[in-house]
This record gives sequence, structure tokens and C-alpha cells, in this order.
Amino acid sequence: MKSFQVNLGNRSYSIDIMPGMIKKCPLVLNEHNNGQKWIIISQHNLMEFFGFDFLKELKNNKFDIDFITLPNGEAAKSINEYSRIISQMIEYGCDRKSSIICLGGGVVGDVGGFVASSFMRGIDYFQMPTTLLAMVDSSIGGKTGINVSQGKNLVGAIYQPKRVLIDPALLESLPKEEVNAGIGEIIKYGAIWDKKFLVEVRSWLNDINNFPFDRAIYTSCKIKAQIVSEDENENGIRRILNFGHTIGHALESHLGYGKIRHGEAVAFGMKCSGYISERLNLITKDELLTLLSTIDNLPLPQLPHINANDLLPFIKNDKKGEKGKLNFVVLDNIGNAKTTTKVDEDLILESLKVLN
Ligand code: GLY
Repeated sequence: MKSFQVNLGNRSYSIDIMPGMIKKCPLVLNEHNNGQKWIIISQHNLMEFFGFDFLKELKNNKFDIDFITLPNGEAAKSINEYSRIISQMIEYGCDRKSSIICLGGGVVGDVGGFVASSFMRGIDYFQMPTTLLAMVDSSIGGKTGINVSQGKNLVGAIYQPKRVLIDPALLESLPKEEVNAGIGEIIKYGAIWDKKFLVEVRSWLNDINNFPFDRAIYTSCKIKAQIVSEDENENGIRRILNFGHTIGHALESHLGYGKIRHGEAVAFGMKCSGYISERLNLITKDELLTLLSTIDNLPLPQLPHINANDLLPFIKNDKKGEKGKLNFVVLDNIGNAKTTTKVDEDLILESLKVLN
């Protein structure tokens, strides 16, 4: 098992990576079992794939455990679902000592983490991500939340898990497109933090069927852990994790959720942000080429023709909460990123040409 720490004082926790971990979970979780009530929060299909075996194994090892499933997709992130989970936990006899295991992708982690942050003023939770995106990004760093009709993640908390348990073997049950989308976020870590890793990922993508997920997950998680350890509340360096996200989110909103995967949208967004970085003379043409050729090595869906002006309202939306200033993440050399307010709308619109 490979392990390392997110260093946050008394909220520090370890990220443990081991193929086949789910089968050994009772061993790993035993030290946290003090006879409290445990709840697995997951989705029905994931329970069928591996959740029921996992539950049985934990029960056999003296865990007092039940499960609650969420609907698939963003529908799970509603106030109604949140309130249903809380009621169900009370019915199951949960109290302040109870623990939650989030077994799923980003949606499950966001909702389960938020329930943990607020149930009886906060209980322990464990992240057990099942998608590549959740393994390398959302399960680490404590961002939790649900949606309201006015927007996504408008209710939430930064609330750190007790531990993150990553089993790369779970990826075998995922559709290929889902996994490829997650590689978009892996490319991001190379672009913003580690040029050598970016070049390595580019070469791995030449033979995507043999992509070394264990190694890629390990390096990505390590980078994310380091960034979160430095800036838990996203007042500074953590913002660079949003590289590619301003345009990525705009693409997701414009095309409609479910029409493009988050990691795919981020990959397209990174192409535009790379273009912008080069136009600002922050990276060379050669560096831009390194980034673009890496992203182009990733099998991505064909985008419909994007009319730049249609994206603009969604890009402007990203300014909310920042007093009208768009904090745009750019590369300042490959392997180093920063935010700037100097990216104007015209340059963003111009950059969209790399998509068409
Ligand atoms: N997904 C970006 C962050 O956790 O900050």
C-alpha cells in the first residue's frame, strides 16, 4: 500500500492507494471501528458492482453498518436528497459517533461529505472513490456541497475526510470514456505543477490501453495533497487547481450537463488556457505545443461547433463572488501556474478557436 499525508494540523489525514483495497477494507478500517454505527453512502449500481460484497465483509468483521443509495447524476445533489439521507440516518440510529463511507464518484463524495459535515454538527467520513476523477481530485481536499436552483455547490462546506482509500482496480468496471475523462485532470497536474510528469503522461497516452493508472493516480494525489496542505480554504495557491475550469465549466453549462464529462470539458478548457498563456508570453510556442499535443493524445469526443458568444454569459458567471473580477488560471512556464485578472473577454473568445 502506498500512503502519504495531507498535512492540516489536527485535521491531517492519509491517502492510501492499493489495487484490490476494497477486498481488504475491513483490515484497513478496523482501527477506526469503535462499535459505532457506520453508513455507506453510494449508488445502486455501485452497490451491485462491489458495494454489497464490501458491506458483507464489513458486517462479518463486526462493523455495525447499513447503506443509503443516491440517484445517479446531479439529481443526487438536491436539498431533498440531503434531507432524505439525514432522516434515514436518524432512523438507522446514527449519532455523533457515527461514521460515513462515501463509495462513489464526485457526486457521492460531495453529498456524503456534506452530510458528514452537518449531521449532528459533524461526524467522521471516509472517501472511497470509484471514478478516476474522484480518485485524483474530488475525494481529496474536503470540498463538499449540494446544489440549489440558483446554482451548483451553493450550499456546502470544506470538511476534511478522516482518510481517503483509493483502489485503482475499481476503474476496471468503468466505461472507457469515463476513465479517459479522468485523465484530463491528470494532465492538469502535470501542466500546473510538474513538467516532467506532463511529458510522462503524454508518452503513456501513446499506448492508452496500458496507461499506468497506479503511478498516475499516485503522482496526481501527491500533488493535490501538497496544494491542499498549503491552502485548505482556497485563498491562494489552491486556485490553480481550477486551470482549464473557467472555460470547462462554461462548456458544461452551454452544452448541458450530461452532454460532456467534466474531465473532457476541463481538457478542452486547458487547451484554451494554454493558448491564452502563450498569447500573454508566459509560455513559449514549444511549451504550448507540449500541452496541446498531450491533450490531443487523449481520445476526446468531437465538440459541436462552438459559437464563442454563446459561451460568454457562462464565462462571466465565473466572476460571481469575486467582485466582478475574473481570476483566470494561466501557466507561467509549464509545470507552474498562477491566477491573473489580466485576461480580458476578447482574449478568452479568441482562444476558443483552438476548439473548432
Ligand atoms: N477540485 C479543485 C479543488 O479541490 O480545489
